[in-house]
Amino acid sequence: MKRSTFMVVAGLLSVSMLAVSCKKEEKDDTPAPTPTPTPSLYTRLGGDGAITAVTDQFIQNVLADPTIADNFQATGSDPYRFALFRERLIDQLCAATGGPYTYTGANMYDAHDGMNITDAEFGALVSALVASLNQFNVPAAEQNELLGILGPMQTDIVGH
Ligand code: HEM
Repeated sequence: MKRSTFMVVAGLLSVSMLAVSCKKEEKDDTPAPTPTPTPSLYTRLGGDGAITAVTDQFIQNVLADPTIADNFQATGSDPYRFALFRERLIDQLCAATGGPYTYTGANMYDAHDGMNITDAEFGALVSALVASLNQFNVPAAEQNELLGILGPMQTDIVGH
């Protein structure tokens, strides 16, 4: 091959290789898939109907537990007081899990002030809630998320 012909062939080869390599670096204009937002815990629990059912069973479990039933003796024996307590508990759980509700009851410190609630009583109440969640087959992930929301309230509720 003559030297000039060789140069032309070599030149063409390198240009075509460049084209190949440039093509590889072309921008991909396909839009990235939009991540689906995780629904709120309120929605995953099944909304207000499901939360109301879990709360009613939770209250029944509390009243059946000798460790804490006495704490709710006065509440349980006054229908108006009981209805208000139930309503506020439902509102609180719906609001705290991201539902379209506003909790209008007392803050957790004031609501439990003067009751001298112990850690053991707090634990018994949480067990009554977990039992209700299990009775309604709420998955472990949602149970843990709910307990993660309620757990920090312990410092406001216990010991005064
Ligand atoms: C995470 C745990 C708890 C939550 C989320 C919670 C939530 C509430 C709420 C929303 C109220 C109503 C407040 C109001 O009327 O403004 C309330 C009241 C009350 N709570 Fe709790 N509570 C918890 C733990 C406990 C424990 C451990 C006890 C005792 C063992 C207890 C005993 C009571 C009693 C006796 C009332 C008053 C009910 C009434 O008005 O007659 N709570 N609580």
